[in-house]
Amino acid sequence: MFQLTRSVTWRALERLHRETANDRISDYFAADPKRFDKMSLRVGGLFLDYSKHHVSDAVLAKLIELADHSALVQRRAQMFSGDIINVTEDRPVLHTALRHLGDEPVYADGKDVMPEIQSTREQIKRFSEEVRSGEWKGYSGERIKDVVNIGIGGSDLGPNMACRALLKHRHGELNFHFVSNVDGAHIQKVLRALDPATTLFIVSTKTFSTQETLLNAKTARRWFLDNAGEDADVGAHFIAASTNRKAAMEFGIREENVFEFWAWVGGRYSMWSSIGLPIALSIGFEGFMELLEGAYEMDQHFIEAPFEQNMPVLMALIGIWYINFIGAETHAIVPYDQALHQLPSFLQQLDMESNGKSVDIFGQPVNYKTGPIVWGQTGSNGQHAFFQLLHQGTRYVPIDFIASLKPEPEFEDHHFALLTNMLAQANAFMEGSQDGSQLDPYSCPGNRPSSTLLLDELTPKNLGALIALYEHKVFVQGVIWNINSFDQWGVQLGKRIAGEISERIDTNVGDFDASTQGLLSLVREHF
Ligand code: F6P
Repeated sequence: MFQLTRSVTWRALERLHRETANDRISDYFAADPKRFDKMSLRVGGLFLDYSKHHVSDAVLAKLIELADHSALVQRRAQMFSGDIINVTEDRPVLHTALRHLGDEPVYADGKDVMPEIQSTREQIKRFSEEVRSGEWKGYSGERIKDVVNIGIGGSDLGPNMACRALLKHRHGELNFHFVSNVDGAHIQKVLRALDPATTLFIVSTKTFSTQETLLNAKTARRWFLDNAGEDADVGAHFIAASTNRKAAMEFGIREENVFEFWAWVGGRYSMWSSIGLPIALSIGFEGFMELLEGAYEMDQHFIEAPFEQNMPVLMALIGIWYINFIGAETHAIVPYDQALHQLPSFLQQLDMESNGKSVDIFGQPVNYKTGPIVWGQTGSNGQHAFFQLLHQGTRYVPIDFIASLKPEPEFEDHHFALLTNMLAQANAFMEGSQDGSQLDPYSCPGNRPSSTLLLDELTPKNLGALIALYEHKVFVQGVIWNINSFDQWGVQLGKRIAGEISERIDTNVGDFDASTQGLLSLVREHF
């Protein structure tokens, strides 16, 4: 059977690692004046500079060979054509169909899914226009002023991140709130400022069975009924985005207000579906369609571009080089854009829930590292928090710097400072202290790698392309590692045990370990 780490290409990459381990990235530039031109590319409104990596031409060529010899071409085709690639859950993976804008059909289980997708898009259009125009009335006849999204994980992070990222593109009078944590403090803080007559709740949950979301939704419904007048009508104030129509209706949501999506959309890939309703409410349906358009264009690029010029493939391969050959454990995402402050959290779920796996698609343990720890926060704040460790600590952390070029007219000076700080950091990480000699123990060693991703402007379209880019990067890595990027059994285990513990809170019987039982008895004293 094929063993990745025994393949000729893998072995050659190991050898190249030994040969280039002491290379300096800056020497690659000195040796090749065209390096920046060769190792940068544009896709639509996104520009990627991947020249500041500890990657020689020979390494890059071998990494491309790794992709060539993998199942990438075949699995990419399988994903886009609705084959069952989520093997443990026995499902296709078709988030790309949600942003498919071509005329061709897309099949799942032998059925063209595009008519249903189109009709849900129409439903989102109608609904978002009604709410935004004030045509949608609450129980007292007033228009909606506040929208509360109740959801967690993929049912929160995507719309939450996108609504914040696209704040400049928001128009209309709606305010947005996101409640995710089961900690009552979260919903309490949001509800405190709201008027039930003018508040709309979106219960966002693929399964309609996630404990945190259901508890928050019930608390919201109770608050609504307690505080609204006698005519209170749950149906006018609660809608759902869910695959579980029956449970949503049992909750009190009108059938026509359950916005469907499908089992073949993974939670962390769902912002393109009705889970994206808050985005359409915030920036309008046209803006939502622009987001889909950006993602669709990135999909086309991913399908068509040769690996040497394929942005997600290149990012994935360089990540593999660091994880599997250089031994990096983590990957930092540092947007120099305050509007993207939720992006690191979004990408953390996307990457870690997808590629946090240690068995391959046949259930066999893998003997190589898979997904990295993904973390980060905005620059320039990060410079004054964790960058010191990145400059001079003992860890090796590749970084993605992300920024948009176009300044706000009245804040040009801020934007200039923001971008120059980012460029300075990327340069400092690579070059180290200019005068740092071997003898100076306090010099910065440099030789620390980064990518720089520039958006022409943070528009819905460019954001869509950016998110699709990372989705495909994660996919490519999963294919090369031969893991299933689309299940999450670890998370399911936690969900199951949380259910079991809460069921046993009154009884002392437990097959739980002594620590859990001991802690449970302390908890029990308070309930
Ligand atoms: O975190 C695990 C997970 O299953 C995610 O994949 C999903 O986005 C989240 O829980 C919420 O699930 P649901 O949308 O079904 O409430």
